[in-house]
Amino acid sequence: MQKRPLFSGGPLVSELGFGAWAIGGGWGKQDDAESIATLHAALDNGINFVDTAQGYGDGHSERIIANALRDRSDEVFVATKTPPDAGPWPPSPYCRWQDRYSAAYLRDNVNQRLKNLGTERIDLLQLHTWTRAWNDDPQPLLVLRQLRDEGKIRLIGVSTPEQDQSCVIQLMRDGLVDVVQIIFNLFDQEAAAQLLPVAAETGTGVIVRVPFDEGALTGKFTGDHTFEDSDFRRHYFAGDRLQRTVGRVDQIRADVEQFEIADQYTLADVALKFVLARPEVSTVIAGMRSVDQVNMNSRAAGLKDLPDALLVQLRRHNWRRGVWYGGK
Ligand SMILES: NC(=O)c1ccc[n+]([C@@H]2O[C@H](COP(=O)([O-])OP(=O)(O)OC[C@H]3O[C@@H](n4cnc5c(N)ncnc54)[C@H](OP(=O)(O)O)[C@@H]3O)[C@@H](O)[C@H]2O)c1
Repeated sequence: MQKRPLFSGGPLVSELGFGAWAIGGGWGKQDDAESIATLHAALDNGINFVDTAQGYGDGHSERIIANALRDRSDEVFVATKTPPDAGPWPPSPYCRWQDRYSAAYLRDNVNQRLKNLGTERIDLLQLHTWTRAWNDDPQPLLVLRQLRDEGKIRLIGVSTPEQDQSCVIQLMRDGLVDVVQIIFNLFDQEAAAQLLPVAAETGTGVIVRVPFDEGALTGKFTGDHTFEDSDFRRHYFAGDRLQRTVGRVDQIRADVEQFEIADQYTLADVALKFVLARPEVSTVIAGMRSVDQVNMNSRAAGLKDLPDALLVQLRRHNWRRGVWYGGK
């Protein structure tokens, strides 16, 4: 497994990271024993970066990771997230950091994260969301600096709100974050406009989440697929969204099939290698919930780079999904 610096001058992490949302819950049935085996398989494949959050099963994901990897904690870098205190998600333009990420709240929350992870220092603490309303008075990040100086956290990050990912650019330029966690995939390529170049310019690390658009970019869904009641994708892909997404995935497949590599690369492979083609990316955290998925994705990470001509062709699949006049 190839490694990359987590940020300029930072520790080396595997370019394929482990996204630990689904093992926490909210994705339909998931057996803890399978989750534990999956985590071990990941480490056995050379994956040394795991991303979790309080929000993944109200700490369940964090606790599984802590228990499963207790004897292997020196082999793995664990990143977690603190959500904002009660209020709208993502934070509205009128939210005040004093109500969502006060110093007292952050201190208390970080102590909970330490307890769940069974550690005395968190490798990377990310604020789970943000709003540009706080950019000019980013006190929560200064509180995290104090916690870092006190030895409770090692590194500081912010995970972007998906509707306004570029809001973290100012934080990167102001040197307030070691890493940002962003969406960058075949459908959402907006980060290429400025966020990724600014990461290179500032040496900020980039953790890429949702490389498969919650599974769709692996090409395994048909338009009539149904998700379990307890799988959040039942809502994410509600109405005609899944059919529209599958139609777009078919167009990607048709493009890939014009290239010789189509014989050796699955669509999931292409989705991961598309992200890894960007040198600004430190690690891509694919969500994985079975040993098979770990093995498939680890194999993909080791494949040769995609041809430049295909990378250029794939740019046309950027999909401004949130723009109404973009049509259905
Ligand atoms: N706001 C935030 O900060 C935020 C938001 C979302 C995610 N994240 C982080 O990013 C990570 C990755 O995102 P994600 O898990 O939401 O989505 P994702 O990586 O796009 O998709 C993951 C899902 O795809 C399926 N899958 C994985 N590998 C596969 C393969 N090789 N072939 C076929 N199916 C495969 C699995 O689900 P099925 O088998 O059930 O299809 C898996 O749970 C999360 O786990 C989490 O750590 C952070």
